[in-house]
Amino acid sequence: MTNIIDGRLIAANIRNELKEKIAGLAKAPCLAIILAGNDEPSLIYVRNKKKAAAEIGVQTKFFHLAEDISEENLLALIDKLNNDENTNGIIVQLPLPEHLNTHKIINRIAPQKDVDGFHPYNTGMLQNNQTPYFIAATPLGIMRLVQSVCSDLSGKNVVIIGASLIVGRPLATLMLNQECTVTITHIHTKNIKELTQKADILVAACGVANLVQEDWIKSGAILIDVGINRCNGKICGDIDFKAVQNKAAAITPVPGGVGPMTIAMLLKNTVDAYELQLSSAKIGNIF
Ligand code: GUN
Repeated sequence: MTNIIDGRLIAANIRNELKEKIAGLAKAPCLAIILAGNDEPSLIYVRNKKKAAAEIGVQTKFFHLAEDISEENLLALIDKLNNDENTNGIIVQLPLPEHLNTHKIINRIAPQKDVDGFHPYNTGMLQNNQTPYFIAATPLGIMRLVQSVCSDLSGKNVVIIGASLIVGRPLATLMLNQECTVTITHIHTKNIKELTQKADILVAACGVANLVQEDWIKSGAILIDVGINRCNGKICGDIDFKAVQNKAAAITPVPGGVGPMTIAMLLKNTVDAYELQLSSAKIGNIF
């Protein structure tokens, strides 16, 4: 029988641990969330982040900026939050409106407050197998989900569909650092099925509804579905759940798999940011 990995439950346990920890802190950790414009999925993600934060005692400050906000004004807001000792974490919800330079904006966030783990300091440290301040929440959550069904990753064949900065690339590094053999595939990959059929762990993060079919996978594989697509009025993933269900050893459902883990790990990063800044303030090297 295929093991359905319950991301909702694992995420709820993490949030409960965080809630207990926050109850013992001198004040509430604070996360600043910046959203420019009204991208519909982004509005939903931000609403879910704010709600989950409130439930465990993380304070949020929401900056909902106009679609046509200037780069200068957005950078000025980030500078202000970088220097505000009551703000522990800063995230800029992506995608940004087209006139804004995403790299320039992300690079302006202080690495010590970059709880999304997107700043080049943090991605670079991860790439070097050193300790970054923060690792991106979705890949972190995926590692937890995989480790819930596979305790030793050494030597495993991992195939990732999608080379994004938010999921595919950092996840490949995390898997590599756990001694996996990693293949990243993308839109230009030839004969993709030949690669996915060899995967002990297959991660689909490409945003193509039901792309992965039964003949794409190896019997007994662990399948992680990062996709959130709309199909016939319902939410579905990048993996055709029904088609692969009896062939895989374990699979994450959509919804209820990776999504709740992303939020739980973002909140964990925010609590870590609070603690990091508290200890650095004590030794006087921040603010
Ligand atoms: N857009 C899609 N996923 C994410 C995420 O994890 N963080 C941010 N900031 N934007 C996103």
